Amino acid sequence: MIPQIQPWIDDDEWQQVKQVIESTYLTENKVTEKFETDISLLTGAKHAIAVFNGTVALYCILKALNIGHGDEVIVPNLTFVASSNAVIMAGAKPIFCPVKTDTLCIDVKAAETLINDQTKAIMPVHLYGQSADMEAVMTLAENFGLKVIEDAAQAIGVEFNGQHVGYYGDGGAISFYGNKTITCGEGGIILTESDSIAEVCRRLKNHGRSRRGTFVHEHIGFNFSMTEMQAAIGVAQLQKLPAIIKRKQQIYDAYMTGFADLPQLEPLFIDPRCQPVHWFTSFYAENRVELANYLRNQGIQTRIFFCPLHLQPCYEGWADPDVDFSVSTSAYERGISLPSSYILTDEELNFIIAQVHEFYKSAH
Ligand SMILES: Cc1ncc(COP(=O)(O)O)c(C=O)c1O
Repeated sequence: MIPQIQPWIDDDEWQQVKQVIESTYLTENKVTEKFETDISLLTGAKHAIAVFNGTVALYCILKALNIGHGDEVIVPNLTFVASSNAVIMAGAKPIFCPVKTDTLCIDVKAAETLINDQTKAIMPVHLYGQSADMEAVMTLAENFGLKVIEDAAQAIGVEFNGQHVGYYGDGGAISFYGNKTITCGEGGIILTESDSIAEVCRRLKNHGRSRRGTFVHEHIGFNFSMTEMQAAIGVAQLQKLPAIIKRKQQIYDAYMTGFADLPQLEPLFIDPRCQPVHWFTSFYAENRVELANYLRNQGIQTRIFFCPLHLQPCYEGWADPDVDFSVSTSAYERGISLPSSYILTDEELNFIIAQVHEFYKSAH
């Protein structure tokens, strides 16, 4: 089976992890600090704070912004469920917002209609490797006094108007889960320009204390630290990031050229202000279910789009029945992501393109 996504892991990661294990210092220390510094340099964010996954990164930012019980946070309806679950974890209520037909990111005009006295923040999600319209998000936030928490879980390397996403607003979270552009196995980074948000986040992840080695805790906190093994993998992966981004662009270009004559496949629109990273190459496809089944039988794994929040069994009854979620429902019904890993070979890529043609030629 050609996997839809697979990380590029080799001796580089092994050597970094081996050094950590040989040092016997496995909990967060110097390698994690290096990982944070490397991410700061890459993104340009003043603070990059490592935590054990992207979900707790979102949670920490929400708590640092004092968002909790009685507050509402506007979240796009088409996202991985962790975006809204982090809001619930912080004690607040996620309000599902329609997404735009072209980019599938948050529809800021629709978001404006959802604002009320309880609304404290908006959480744009940079979906499938491109950016939400951060100009529109920031203008809305300024006009209504909202905090902005960017869910940049899928968006390492992604820029909007020449700046890396994740710190346009108050703070943002990147994930290093196994399927992301680069991975630590599990891992997350908080990005922020704010010294005070950074300080609270560092405390929150370290049992409420500002430094290790003390057992007097001024604040209530938890343990969200990364391990040195995760950071070691991350340091090696960061070295590979430029090559991964380049290869993903080649894969994207090959699919675009290969399917240019297929009206049954419609690529997602890329906002010209965005410098995307094609984490996944995705399309709206005619006969999506049959196409996915056909490709599976040819040994090609694909992935459908996220199930929108208003259709999630765990959120039954949550969505406002008067809000129009047809864009996310339609994306869920028609969206397909094709194999997009760095390690995909040209032969595999050509085979996939040929098989998609074969599918539409034969029966559809
Ligand atoms: C959009 C989005 N938000 C949040 C997360 C949560 O990140 P993590 O799995 O690192 O907790 C993910 C992915 O995993 C994601 O894709």
